[in-house]
Amino acid sequence: MRIDIITLFPEFFDGFKAHSIISRAIKSGKVEIHVHNLREHAKDSYGSVDDHPYGGGPGMVLKVDVVVPAIRDVQKLNPGAPVILMTPQGEKYSQKKAANLKSEDGLILICGHYEGFDERIREYVNQEISIGDYVLTGGELAAMVIIDSVVRLLPGVLGDDMSSHDESFSPSTSLPAQAGSGSARLLEYAQYTRPLEYEGKKVPDVLTGGNHKEIEKWRVAEAHERTEKRRPDLLSKK
Ligand code: 6GU
Repeated sequence: MRIDIITLFPEFFDGFKAHSIISRAIKSGKVEIHVHNLREHAKDSYGSVDDHPYGGGPGMVLKVDVVVPAIRDVQKLNPGAPVILMTPQGEKYSQKKAANLKSEDGLILICGHYEGFDERIREYVNQEISIGDYVLTGGELAAMVIIDSVVRLLPGVLGDDMSSHDESFSPSTSLPAQAGSGSARLLEYAQYTRPLEYEGKKVPDVLTGGNHKEIEKWRVAEAHERTEKRRPDLLSKK
């Protein structure tokens, strides 16, 4: 998958691209991440990308005649990819949305800063995404959230094929309690590793007993109990 990012702060993505799962996915050719500096599309010698709002008011507004040419240039490099505007006014992001984006030909993510976008920019994008009900100073962190959640779903990116399955918020195939439900989500069951005992706290006996049927039963019950306690809203969702 090819991912293009349009941003005023390309350096934000250096660390993100250089570490862990994302860097491995890049090295193995599962994903390409290209970062474009919006300022290169400025029309004047000052490199202006924003201007004062018509009608007055605080803050600055990203210019339509800067952002749209940037979109068009990047679309030539990643044709067929949806253009996604990162904005707190967008559709709320979710695991389901990540699964949908995974199947796209590519992604073009536009990160804004300052007060906002000229409204006319919205006519040149396919989707608007918000990662939650809080305000960030820019779309870069949100873009990284999207990219991380999508790339880890691409085939072959996670070393162990199963490791994205049982986790919280993923449609599970191995928890029988969810069979056939399709859209139900449970939080992940409790996990333990060595030591067997730490400051008097012991690993549940069932996990060390070697009975795989019993372990599976315990995990299903545990996941349900934990979801009921922490996120009852997930159980009531259809
Ligand atoms: Cl996508 N952008 C900004 N600037 N703030 C946000 C957001 C996005 N999602 C939640 N808050």
